[in-house]
Amino acid sequence: MKISIVRRKTIAIEEFEGTEWPIADVEHYGRDDVEFKAKHYFLKAEQDGTIWGILQMKIRAGVCTVSDVLVSHEKRGQGIGKKLMHEAEKIATKQGAHKIFLITGRDWKAADFYKSLGYKVTGERQNDLAHADFIEFAKFLG
Ligand SMILES: CC(C)(COP(=O)(O)OP(=O)(O)OC[C@H]1O[C@@H](n2cnc3c(N)ncnc32)[C@H](O)[C@@H]1OP(=O)(O)O)[C@@H](O)C(=O)NCCC(=O)NCCS
Repeated sequence: MKISIVRRKTIAIEEFEGTEWPIADVEHYGRDDVEFKAKHYFLKAEQDGTIWGILQMKIRAGVCTVSDVLVSHEKRGQGIGKKLMHEAEKIATKQGAHKIFLITGRDWKAADFYKSLGYKVTGERQNDLAHADFIEFAKFLG
């Protein structure tokens, strides 16, 4: 047997996945019809053509992962981040997600922002991106 790097998924690899994932899914989830295709959303908060904030989210198998929440440094503390998060939660709920998941820097101000929105710490990631320590947050919906 040899192991090699492939540049992209070939038809043979897709066929292999098509056969093997349903078998593994039954082992893991007790069913083979879980939808793992992600839906991506990109939110922006703007007024008069000026962007004040953005947020990215993806929903996959009932889990909504929020990332890249960013509010203009001139507009922070005015409720824009909270509005973006509430919109994300609304979309996630409408799409049937049962959980919102996100990570942020352990020592970043954003950690208090997420706590104020009801997110609970569920884990930590030491020495992660660029060697910073991160914490994981979750909120269960419904
Ligand atoms: C974190 C961030 C998105 C918050 O957005 P924001 O618009 O400033 O936050 P809001 O004004 O909507 O605040 C909502 C709540 O969070 C709290 N909060 C916001 N920033 C906070 C801070 N620095 N420290 C403590 N609490 C904070 C507010 O007190 C507010 O609570 P309240 O509703 O009870 O008054 C924004 O500061 C930002 O873009 N930071 C830089 C990028 C970043 O760190 N993004 C997160 C990456 S994971």
